[in-house]
Amino acid sequence: MIRCISCGAEYDDDEIIYTCECGSILEVVTEVDNIPKETFDNRRDNIWKYKEFLPVNAENRISLDEGGTPFCKCDKIGEELGIELFVKVEGSNPTGSFKDRGMSVGTTKAVDLGVNMVGCASTGNTSASLSAYAARAGLKCAVLLPAGKVALGKLAQAMFHGAKVFGVDGNFDDALETITELALNGELYLLNSINPYRLEGQKTIGMEVVHDLGWKSPDRIVLPVGNAGNISAIWKGITEFQDAGYIKDTPMMTGIQAVNSAPIANAVKAGTDEVTPVENPETIATAIRIGAPVSSVKAMRAIKESNGTADTVTDDEILDAQKYLARTEGIGVEPASAASIAGLRKLVENGEIDQGERVVCIVTGHVLKDPNVAIEACEEPTQVASDPNEIRKVLQTM
Ligand code: F0G
Repeated sequence: MIRCISCGAEYDDDEIIYTCECGSILEVVTEVDNIPKETFDNRRDNIWKYKEFLPVNAENRISLDEGGTPFCKCDKIGEELGIELFVKVEGSNPTGSFKDRGMSVGTTKAVDLGVNMVGCASTGNTSASLSAYAARAGLKCAVLLPAGKVALGKLAQAMFHGAKVFGVDGNFDDALETITELALNGELYLLNSINPYRLEGQKTIGMEVVHDLGWKSPDRIVLPVGNAGNISAIWKGITEFQDAGYIKDTPMMTGIQAVNSAPIANAVKAGTDEVTPVENPETIATAIRIGAPVSSVKAMRAIKESNGTADTVTDDEILDAQKYLARTEGIGVEPASAASIAGLRKLVENGEIDQGERVVCIVTGHVLKDPNVAIEACEEPTQVASDPNEIRKVLQTM
């Protein structure tokens, strides 16, 4: 069953619907019998480990073995900041971002519904993921991208896996509006995160975090926020595990946005629940260059219920954090993902995060997604003859 998060109206599972008649957004109601948590211990480490919590038939899944991503304790950064830090590396998913979790469940649902074409608007990763999963499912796929504003790796993936790729004149918010119109007209099945089945896949991030911590909640989860689906999904996963009695406490959900694309952080700072869209969002972290997040109501609820917060970081802080994580802990992430580390540093500095807190940062996409940003941040390779003496001279200066 699907339910409206505002008026509580209920809809059948086989109805193709993206928003409630009241205009608000929907969520899947998870109905799970009493399952001992040990059930999940000896299963293959992917999202389907928690199949009882997923609203599609796992037997028919469209899967690339997504989920079960690395959970790295980062003692060097942790000690520097005076906290206990874990980093969940979502770039290790099959197409290099957390979107694969959602697309696995989303395309499984699409096949179940009998549609033949799926589509999305995207800042890049959603399209890369959908294009791959649609290929695996044998579905036609159309993706709308803000022209000139999608990182090269993501564009290459969307094109290579065979989606029909459109570069639209406008930003992500414009592209989403356009593809939604096609979806509402029944011309394709929309797999942006307004589709509640997408978020069901992504909620497994929260489930894995508490499972990996030995059925304990961290004090806080910090993650980048764009369209606001992921923070909502992770909170849903966490609360479902709390309702099932697997964990007692819950983490403070902490969303980080780029300063000129920050409608949610602006609302949190202003102390209001009203999220005012940002007209012309801008940031080097193109993945989160979004001004009108569709899941803002869910995200604000997650932040409030969890006693969490949201904050902003500048592009310089993002780029600095991206390099810091790569060179201190060996974890390569794309700029949007580094927003979580940049935000973590800022919140520790201003005392919002207490010393000794156990914090999990979700890094959402792989460094190779945006090779241009990575290359521009570095020195060019030193050109030398293939001669040990020449190389030795340079090595001695290191
Ligand atoms: N990090 C990365 C790498 C992303 O690609 C996105 C969103 C986010 C964070 C933010 O997640 O939207 O759930 O708040 N990318 C979408 C896309 C919008 O089209 O690929 P969110």
